[in-house]
Amino acid sequence: MFYEPKNGHGLPHNPFGAIIAPRPIGWISTRSASGQDNLAPYSFFNAVAYEPPQVMFASTSGKPDRDEGKDTVGNIRDTGFFCVNVVSEALKDAMNATSAALPRDRDEFSVAGLDRAECQTIPCSRVVASPAALECKLVQIVELPGKMNRMVIGEVTGIHLRDDCLIDGKFDVTRFALLARLGYRDYTTVRDAFELSRPDD
Ligand SMILES: Cc1cc2nc3c(=O)[nH]c(=O)nc-3n(C[C@H](O)[C@H](O)[C@H](O)COP(=O)(O)O)c2cc1C
Repeated sequence: MFYEPKNGHGLPHNPFGAIIAPRPIGWISTRSASGQDNLAPYSFFNAVAYEPPQVMFASTSGKPDRDEGKDTVGNIRDTGFFCVNVVSEALKDAMNATSAALPRDRDEFSVAGLDRAECQTIPCSRVVASPAALECKLVQIVELPGKMNRMVIGEVTGIHLRDDCLIDGKFDVTRFALLARLGYRDYTTVRDAFELSRPDD
């Protein structure tokens, strides 16, 4: 089949998210200007540069108690900081719980029963149980076409790696079964990996 998105897909569910898959999940912690911690998953997430290391995530739509966008983007706009926590299979239910559209004064760390630790380079909490966490300073918020579509780019200023996930000096995502998003309500986990040398290696 072929379809032009502006004309609709004619399928029971939108296939777009299933085509761009699997997507890593950026589980993003922020702190509001008044000191309230916030945590939410974003699968429109990726790395975009090595030197200096930079990541992006995108927020779509908004929530009833905000004029514009979601709490995560609002907090980052106010403070200039965020932390990306990596999600293991063991954290899937906690991650899912933090996706609820809670009022902005509710702390998702408490809602999901997660221990937090203070970041080292930014004033923000991180998820202690996450296999890795990236402390980020805001580079830019890009306004994308469409209602309240925003892409947030951050520079990584500190990286936490759980020691048990470092095997022979490599961060091993199979060790903790990295969780990734497919389309619809589907997820996958990374349980095996293979190596492929590049032609120039
Ligand atoms: C696995 C997963 C991935 C998600 N990815 C996104 C995303 O990329 N962009 C987005 O706007 N919302 C995404 N959501 C929904 C947000 O997590 C949800 O709207 C949340 O309430 C936002 O919280 P906040 O207002 O505290 O930022 C995702 C939800 C789940 C469960």
